[in-house]
Amino acid sequence: MKRITVIGVGYVGLVTAACFADLGNRVVALDVNEARIEGLKQGIMPIYEPGLEELVRRNVKAERLSFTTSYAEALQGAEFAFIAVGTPSGVNGEADLQYVAAAARAIAENMSGPLIIINKSTVPIGTGDWVADIVQRHQKHPYPFSVVSCPEFLREGTAISDFMNPYRVVVGSLDREAAEKVAQLHLPLRAPIVITDLRTAEMIKYASNAFLATKISFINEIADICEAYGADVKEVAAGMGYDKRIGPYFLDAGLGWGGSCFPKDVKALAYMAQEKGLTPRILQSVMEVNYRRRKDVVRVLQEMLGDLRGKVIGLLGLAFKPNTDDMREAPSIDIAEGLLAAGAEVRAYDPVAMPGAQALLPAVKMYPDPYQMAQGCDALVVVTEWNEFKQLDLERLRQLMRLPVLLDGRNIYQPQLMHQLGFIYRGIGRGNTHGGS
Ligand code: UDX
Ligand code: UDX
Repeated sequence: MKRITVIGVGYVGLVTAACFADLGNRVVALDVNEARIEGLKQGIMPIYEPGLEELVRRNVKAERLSFTTSYAEALQGAEFAFIAVGTPSGVNGEADLQYVAAAARAIAENMSGPLIIINKSTVPIGTGDWVADIVQRHQKHPYPFSVVSCPEFLREGTAISDFMNPYRVVVGSLDREAAEKVAQLHLPLRAPIVITDLRTAEMIKYASNAFLATKISFINEIADICEAYGADVKEVAAGMGYDKRIGPYFLDAGLGWGGSCFPKDVKALAYMAQEKGLTPRILQSVMEVNYRRRKDVVRVLQEMLGDLRGKVIGLLGLAFKPNTDDMREAPSIDIAEGLLAAGAEVRAYDPVAMPGAQALLPAVKMYPDPYQMAQGCDALVVVTEWNEFKQLDLERLRQLMRLPVLLDGRNIYQPQLMHQLGFIYRGIGRGNTHGGS
């Protein structure tokens, strides 16, 4: 049972705090956002993450988890302090580290004894050294401390199981003893633990995310070639995936990646390369392929419907992926704006993301269910592959629409079945141009 502090109760910090508490540690989670902390004290979650509410409730009740906005209280008697504040992209794609700096400084000013400071947030290579320097300069007392990089590999929507069943735990530090102590915190997870230096640990995170993003942009490029030649990219990906060197995962062609990680991390890695005078050609292409897909949606709908002025388009899904309410860099934002710019009326339905999305997309009319939204639509676009869209009564949906046009941005439907149901159906890379299966 260790005394742990977590700074930042966002998607990363709150899951980290609740999971470490569930492993039997005493955790105090801090955030500068008082509303978030007040809400959490009343059992209100600031984010949607399956299973999180129950996990937090159980650990607060067992007095293993508490919340505060006071750094002094949060750090009292702490042996470990995780920094899990946001690291958004700056104007040139570089990571904005102002919040990491603020957290490091506040830790330095409020630490009450020897401390191991752990960067959980994704931070550029070299940030660990920079955090150590900030703490050194702002310490009130010369307590011994070490900085450790322990990057997060959580996927939104499965963050708790990703924490509890990680493929690996990466721990980086120049202080071997501190690294070993952080490794021990993770022993109950019974996962492989990689112990390395600070910069290598920071790079493992970026390289992992950039490679996953590359796989997705690769299969999206293959999808374009499949489209042109009448092959079905879903079956191509399945055929590829049997090769253990390729694997079946992250080969779903569609509208590409969004979220708070891939866009930010690929941009930041490319920026770091350019900072050293390198040209990250692959990363630049990975981003170009990814973002072009959002424009493709407007182009394909113009091919299917002609002039979009006055046409009514319904978006099935808004969140950047299923099982989350996160709208950060969601493809739906560029798609909706592109359609509005082309003169279309845009509607949307999403199981959980609509409250947050409405502020981002004020011109988009939100509907309480897909059928009401479909009423009178000239086209529907599957933007997020929520499971409930796979169970829709397609016959009913088609009858409600003014035109039976459906663009399946996440390839959740079978082209043959859709043609049989009377839809004018297009997927991504499903060999549609040949009207084939
Ligand atoms: C984000 C990125 O998604 C992730 O890739 C990166 O590793 C860490 O930053 P996330 O949890 O999604 O993680 O960030 P967010 O949901 O924005 O939460 C950040 C939290 O930190 C917010 O609650 C914010 O109020 C808090 N914060 C911010 C502080 O507590 N102190 C600060 O100085 C600034
Ligand atoms: C990702 C990484 O998976 C995780 O390890 C890291 O810690 C944070 O970033 P996340 O962004 O939450 O997690 O979601 P993920 O499931 O990886 O999907 C990222 C994006 O790729 C989503 O927009 C998703 O729609 C898209 N995607 C994913 C595809 O387009 N095709 C795929 O095959 C898989």
